[in-house]
Amino acid sequence: MTLTESRVATSRYLEGNFAPVDTEVEAFDLAVRGEIPSELSGRLLRIGPNPVAAPDPASYHWFTGSGMVHGLRLRDGKAQWYRNRFVRSDSVSTARNWPITPGPRHGMGDGTANTNVIGHGGSTFAIVEAGGLPVELSYDLETLRMTNFNETLPGSFTAHPKRDPQTGELHAMVYYFEWDYVQYVVVGTNGLVRKTVNVPVPGKPMMHDCAITESKVVVLDLPVTFNLEAAINGHALPYLWDPEYGARVGLLSRDAVDGNDTVWCELPDLCYVYHPLNAFDLPDGRVVCDVVKHPKMFANDTYGPNEGEPVLARWTVDPATGRVHEEIIDDRGQEFPRHDERLLGREHRFGYGAAFGHGVEHGPALKHDLLKRTTELHEYGEGRVSLEPVFVPRHDDAGEDDGWVMSYVYDATTNSSDVVILNAQDFTGEPVAVVSLPQRVPFGFHGNWVPDEA
Ligand SMILES: [Fe+2]
Repeated sequence: MTLTESRVATSRYLEGNFAPVDTEVEAFDLAVRGEIPSELSGRLLRIGPNPVAAPDPASYHWFTGSGMVHGLRLRDGKAQWYRNRFVRSDSVSTARNWPITPGPRHGMGDGTANTNVIGHGGSTFAIVEAGGLPVELSYDLETLRMTNFNETLPGSFTAHPKRDPQTGELHAMVYYFEWDYVQYVVVGTNGLVRKTVNVPVPGKPMMHDCAITESKVVVLDLPVTFNLEAAINGHALPYLWDPEYGARVGLLSRDAVDGNDTVWCELPDLCYVYHPLNAFDLPDGRVVCDVVKHPKMFANDTYGPNEGEPVLARWTVDPATGRVHEEIIDDRGQEFPRHDERLLGREHRFGYGAAFGHGVEHGPALKHDLLKRTTELHEYGEGRVSLEPVFVPRHDDAGEDDGWVMSYVYDATTNSSDVVILNAQDFTGEPVAVVSLPQRVPFGFHGNWVPDEA
């Protein structure tokens, strides 16, 4: 037995519904139980890691697998198609003997984009953090090109741009291990970067997401930082828990031209946050930011987000005192917080999420009423768990929770997936519609409803 064979070579991030699917498929006129609302015309897109070649389980990091995008197209009350496609990074193209994807590269990246998929300016983009560029996809999810937004993006991008509902512009915080700053980037509705501001930081933090209000960008400077020793040792994603770094929140005016004008406010304790739910301004200058908060990150499990149950917290950030007041809203394990994005940067009442417990266990979907301080759960049935839920309003002027919550759902009893559409105002009730998919959709990260152009 060789040394390699004798190693304990398992990874929770390659087993069960974390396991990749091998084939690209498409199916048309899918079976539906219930009725798909006729108002829904567009694509429910989703993306996650899906290694194109079997990785070494002992060193596989969940965040680094090749990207695979899944899409369900709805129109006229029908589920017209489902398809899944690899995002054609250089490693994917090489492994499958496909043509190399045109367009620029950044840094050491090979074009892997596996974390979010969005529509912007009439195009579809697979996106990722930590140095990767966006990958433009066709409507049918074929990889077209890698892009730096027509050479207007000076560095790389992020998986979590925030779309201002008033302007349609994307606001993002970007990080890269070679920089001693993080970068605020604004992408116009024309798909070109119109503004960048470098924000100095004392280390090289993993800055997965941000929030915006009507006046400010909320910068999450938290103690997971680039670790040179881990990089030298070949760790797939060398960002580790760094308690000496501290934990703080920055408020930067959206009008700022100098990142040194960021006002930093200390958090009451160390933690890690991937995802804010939303943020908004208070009249007195404070900012409220609801977040899903992990107790730590990449301290014991350095291959995935598995350091105890993440909870929903409300931070009230006070630039006058430099302090942050924290209140735990819901201590159930949860992740992938979403809301009605017509209210992005404005005060919200409702939030949605997916159960996410110890050992990255998935579970039911959640709906929070932040006014009443109540939470409803939608249990999908035995063995059935929700991936990130997405809220879609019934129409442009509908009330905040007047619409649908759509989730890709995994059924462990049949090892299959479907898309479940709930009435957001009858969250615990029977689904409005369930669409059976021809292929399992692995656990992954994010997705969005991208409505067809009017
Ligand atoms: Fe994320």
